[in-house]
Amino acid sequence: PKVREYKWSIVNRVGNPDGVYRPMLMINGMFPGPLIEANEGDTLVIEVDNQSDNATSIHFHGIYQNGTNFMDGTTGITQCPIAPNHKFRYEFTVTGQSGTYYYHGHHAVSASDGLVGPLVIHSKNEKKLQRIPYVTDRVVMLQDWYHDLSSGLLISALEPGSESSPIPNGALMNGFNQRDCSQLPHRMCDNSTATLPSLDLTANANHRLRFINVGAFAWFQVEVDEHEFAISEVDGTDIVPTYDTRMMISPAQRYSMILSTNHTNADSFWLRARMVAHCWKDPSLPGPGADEIKAVINYTPTGTTKKPKGLLAQPNSRSWNKGMAVECRDMNMTSYVPAIYSPPPPVAAHSYYFRLNLEIGDWRLERGFFNQSTFRPNLQNPTLHRTIDGLSSHNETFNSMKNADGVNGVCYDKKHDLVIQHTGVKVVDIIIQNFDEGNHPMHLHGHKFWVLGQGHGPFPGYESLRMKAKGRGTLDGHERALDNLMRRDVATAEGFGWLALRFVADNPGVWAFHCHMAWHSEAGLVMQFLSRIDKLTDWRIPEANQQLCQVDISELKKGAAP
Ligand code: C2O
Repeated sequence: PKVREYKWSIVNRVGNPDGVYRPMLMINGMFPGPLIEANEGDTLVIEVDNQSDNATSIHFHGIYQNGTNFMDGTTGITQCPIAPNHKFRYEFTVTGQSGTYYYHGHHAVSASDGLVGPLVIHSKNEKKLQRIPYVTDRVVMLQDWYHDLSSGLLISALEPGSESSPIPNGALMNGFNQRDCSQLPHRMCDNSTATLPSLDLTANANHRLRFINVGAFAWFQVEVDEHEFAISEVDGTDIVPTYDTRMMISPAQRYSMILSTNHTNADSFWLRARMVAHCWKDPSLPGPGADEIKAVINYTPTGTTKKPKGLLAQPNSRSWNKGMAVECRDMNMTSYVPAIYSPPPPVAAHSYYFRLNLEIGDWRLERGFFNQSTFRPNLQNPTLHRTIDGLSSHNETFNSMKNADGVNGVCYDKKHDLVIQHTGVKVVDIIIQNFDEGNHPMHLHGHKFWVLGQGHGPFPGYESLRMKAKGRGTLDGHERALDNLMRRDVATAEGFGWLALRFVADNPGVWAFHCHMAWHSEAGLVMQFLSRIDKLTDWRIPEANQQLCQVDISELKKGAAP
């Protein structure tokens, strides 16, 4: 195993990735951030120097952080924000997992200003687990894109009477797009340096494209003109390749696509990624064509590295366009099978039912709720710090929680800090009943969960899940048997629907569980799981982590929701 060191300076920069100038956040002046590529077992050291105007933090999405919960990067939960002109060193080992991940800012909504980048972990068995051999391995990041700074968008989204989240102005692929400036008369725009993304792929070979939706809000529907492809990995779980012509990817989800360049009639094709506007509540589109980002896929003869192609040689390939209705849900996982047989998840010791709500109305803030709780991060004293301090100070209330499981409304503020705690290793179910009309991509930090089921209407109950397990049938096509279940770290709770997840709470620390739409988590759609309390009693908060909190609160709040 290797130690891989990175030095990152986070800076404010003006950028025009698609032509339109806007203030951005960049890592070492780069957007998107640099690729972190590691082997399983490696240690990553990322030194973050915050030279930007706002407080920040970096979260490594999907990484277990087993034993290093204080490196999870979630402000108000595992750390205080890194104030402007302060530094923090993230250091952790990536073990027990491989595949496609990413990193993003986890303070307020700063990720959508540019603080995102890919993270790929290779396993020793990669070749074996990936059933189709491939010659290239590339990352394709998709994101919705805004022409204004996120902090301003956030303020208007949370304003009393505001009825919806900000609508994206466009989309980017690997940080590229080229907008027609004449269509954007109110923006400062120069598209002479902007280009459409392109991918040169050797003809007659298989290529692995790791799709990551690093965006704040939009689902993308992806297709490659006139090509079928196989999906071979879902959020770090290798699966038996499943063929399709289209895929849907929610914010923070990842899929590996194996694309065969075996077409014989032409040698350039469009790869299309379209934001699916009706997956968000306000169906208004960002403008003609602006909902789609296209990349040119160029077949290259073996041996050549590049042939100059640009907008002069636009593909004339045809879209699949089968007129299929697009549904805003995870792809039908009944047809996905993990590459390694995974036994049915153990029976859960605890099952928690949460009502998910977004409350919008005149003269009140738009807030997200799990049951009665709407998260308000304590930026000066995160949950982890309060927990460790309480446990180590012979505090009676905290001491009594050492043997208890369940909702902890004694040590934490139930209204703003919904904390579910467990001592020892516990198997836990989360049932989300979504009372909102919108779809919410739910993410659990530090774990992969089994998706027990998802669907429309009210949760049908465990008996119905079991019945399906026996018959291996499905009720409405997107609920599945309790055997060889998909494990991933982001799954969608459909509008007015339900989502049932199971995970093993074996990872010591405090883990956020939240909607991954930036505006929603910042509006409070966040809760926390506190696991292995028995392991935490001899923990101390590392000095560097404590120091982050010794900063004036006004500095820590910079960039966060009012
Ligand atoms: Cu990728 Cu808490 O998030």
